[in-house]
Amino acid sequence: MLEVARVSRSFAGIHALQDVDFKVEPGSITALIGPNGAGKTTLINLITGVMPPSSGELRFDGRSLAGLKPHRVEALGIRRTFQTVHLFPGLTVRENLVIGGFRPALRASPWSMFALPARDRGPQRRRADALLELLGLEGLGDEIATDLPYGTQRRVEIARAMMGEPRFVLLDEPAAGMNETETHELTDDIRAIRGQGITVFLVEHDMSLVMSVSDKIVVLNFGKLIAQGTPEAIQRDPEVIASYLGA
Ligand SMILES: Nc1ncnc2c1ncn2[C@@H]1O[C@H](COP(=O)(O)OP(=O)(O)OP(=O)(O)O)[C@@H](O)[C@H]1O
Ligand SMILES: [Mg+2]
Repeated sequence: MLEVARVSRSFAGIHALQDVDFKVEPGSITALIGPNGAGKTTLINLITGVMPPSSGELRFDGRSLAGLKPHRVEALGIRRTFQTVHLFPGLTVRENLVIGGFRPALRASPWSMFALPARDRGPQRRRADALLELLGLEGLGDEIATDLPYGTQRRVEIARAMMGEPRFVLLDEPAAGMNETETHELTDDIRAIRGQGITVFLVEHDMSLVMSVSDKIVVLNFGKLIAQGTPEAIQRDPEVIASYLGA
């Protein structure tokens, strides 16, 4: 579904990514792991059109993503979440989700608040409630999103990303800041999303989460791909142990 072909990206002499090469199979859960600064978020930014690669190519469904702006990438069915919470303060969970279903230009603007009353009903509202139920967040639709516990807010963000009916979802460290219970709920969420036939690309430092949900793991270290394979193979890989997992 996604092909990362010899992708590099530099920032003023820093090689954030160097010749990175791997594929994501449709319907799979693929995790991208590696130490801080390894280039994981940079790769998500390249895939989603936030910035272009310095060289190499990204293909989705066999089609090059070169030159596509984020809204064009999104139109192909690709959605992401961010490393920090990006919910609208003062709006309910359901309102946040409904805005998540707006087209990008409207979603990003403060005017989305004024478009809300007209759109916060009917199909969008039902879709929001169905997603809350899928992700075990039912009953929270009328709560003010930013008043919820941090881990719940992060799960609401995942639900919001799902409003655009994506086929490919990229999650940037969804478990960061979550307690153990929240991480278990998140694990169920990720499996539920894949259960809908949606391909999941997960950047994450929580190794028990990564090892339990992933079909395939890709490991970056200082911008270079050092290993890829099943969780079992990655846990035994000497270079991965030396550079990231530890003994
Ligand atoms: N917009 C940018 N401008 C300059 N340097 C950047 C930019 N984005 C990333 N970098 C640099 O690229 C390298 C990779 O950063 P990136 O954020 O992709 O790492 P990461 O693997 O996501 O790390 P973490 O686990 O801490 O989130 C770092 O050295 C970072 O400082
Ligand atoms: Mg990052």
